[in-house]
Amino acid sequence: MPYPKPTRRSWAEPWKVKVVEPIRMTTREYREKCIAEAGYNTFLLRSEDVYIDLLTDSGTSAMSDNQWAGMMLGDEAYAGSRNFYHLWEAVTEYYGYQYVVPTHQGRGAEHIISQIMIKEGDYVPGNMYFTTTRLHQELAGGTFVDVIIDEAHDPANEHPFKGDVDLDKLQKLIDEVGADKIPYVAVAGTVNMAGGQPQSMANMRALRRLCDQHHIPIVLDATRAVENAYFIQQREAGYRDKKIAEILKEYCSYTDSCTMSAKKDTLVNIGGWLATNDEGLFEEARNMVVVYEGLHTYGGLAGRDMEAMARGIVESVDDDHIRARVGQVEYLGQHLIDWGVPVVRPIGGHAVFLDARAIYEHIPQDQFPAQALAADLYIDSGVRSMERGVVSAGRDPKTGDHRYPKLELVRLTIPRRVYTQAHMDVVAESALEVYEKREQARGLRFVYEPKYLRFFQARFERV
Ligand code: F0G
Repeated sequence: MPYPKPTRRSWAEPWKVKVVEPIRMTTREYREKCIAEAGYNTFLLRSEDVYIDLLTDSGTSAMSDNQWAGMMLGDEAYAGSRNFYHLWEAVTEYYGYQYVVPTHQGRGAEHIISQIMIKEGDYVPGNMYFTTTRLHQELAGGTFVDVIIDEAHDPANEHPFKGDVDLDKLQKLIDEVGADKIPYVAVAGTVNMAGGQPQSMANMRALRRLCDQHHIPIVLDATRAVENAYFIQQREAGYRDKKIAEILKEYCSYTDSCTMSAKKDTLVNIGGWLATNDEGLFEEARNMVVVYEGLHTYGGLAGRDMEAMARGIVESVDDDHIRARVGQVEYLGQHLIDWGVPVVRPIGGHAVFLDARAIYEHIPQDQFPAQALAADLYIDSGVRSMERGVVSAGRDPKTGDHRYPKLELVRLTIPRRVYTQAHMDVVAESALEVYEKREQARGLRFVYEPKYLRFFQARFERV
């Protein structure tokens, strides 16, 4: 079929490829064996047996030549590495916080801030949970309370800012438990578990006002805050002509501290930080990082890793970069929307989320429809995705029952600067094929269930 003549000029990635890594296509029969051996858990596959790896956007980005050059400038001194100061300067310049503590990745920072700020019996409201974030809150004695707007729990709802905090829900919690039982409000932009959905600047500003009235600090999970800034630029009145860097800084300015998994926005394979404007918190965090991560000038990282992060921060806020990054995710998502495959809408910043509840309607949630769908997609094409449903949600620590989230999703997560449009075409075609054969699908049951973050290591068999 001839290609239709274009009606507009396309945009493209602001880079060209210098190094390639071969990937291998396998047979369906081979993949059936691999996934059965992996207990129907895509985390337990060998990456060699994966064709297109959309498990996560975490630590899977391609670094630039400038970042790789920076790796050679690693100052591997135990204390006071020059790369640490470069990282510090980049975080303060682009994110705006005054104090920085490096950590090996996001959960290192979550652990430290949770242990310092949360007391037994506290409540930590947040715009939907994230797996590691909530677990660290619980391990510190806190109870997570979801205060995201209701629209976020409905995959079909087209609200442009499904990451917004519902201020009435937060006010209700403050009235019920008292502000002194709320050590901070945890906000994430974008919201991973809601489908990579952004929070608006207006909502963040209003949240700041409410928190100020009650003297409650705000801790931002800044992991994908650059992607959040892009949605603000595209969707929120008054931001169209502002640069991503400017929007990011304003967004962070309404918060007191942040935790960061630099493995996402920041375009590195490992790294993270905790940053704050609170000097007392900084002193405590800087002391605690020595116990769990490493000295406060490396936090579990090599000097070269901190240099790559410092440079990655600068690249991540480039307007052309972020447009191409989110644009590629939208490209995949729009194909699935056009072909009628149920996905979370609008398309988020880092991933396209298949609505497994709608696709595998006949599989009850306690037979893990999203887990089964991820396995079936792998068998079809070697595309690796991730369950984000009842398995990820885990069990309620008080009752021991499964937590049944409204969203039962499979995440097709796009690494940054790694795959091409042709790869996205293959992924879309495979998702369509699995969707068309949905009636043949069967559910799963546990054969092994770990105690913490069970989705990483659980094993299943077919029902
Ligand atoms: N916060 C968010 C929003 C995340 O997505 C992640 C990690 C973390 C914190 C924890 O950071 O992995 O560096 O310790 N998300 C990865 C993912 C694992 O696949 O979504 P980490």
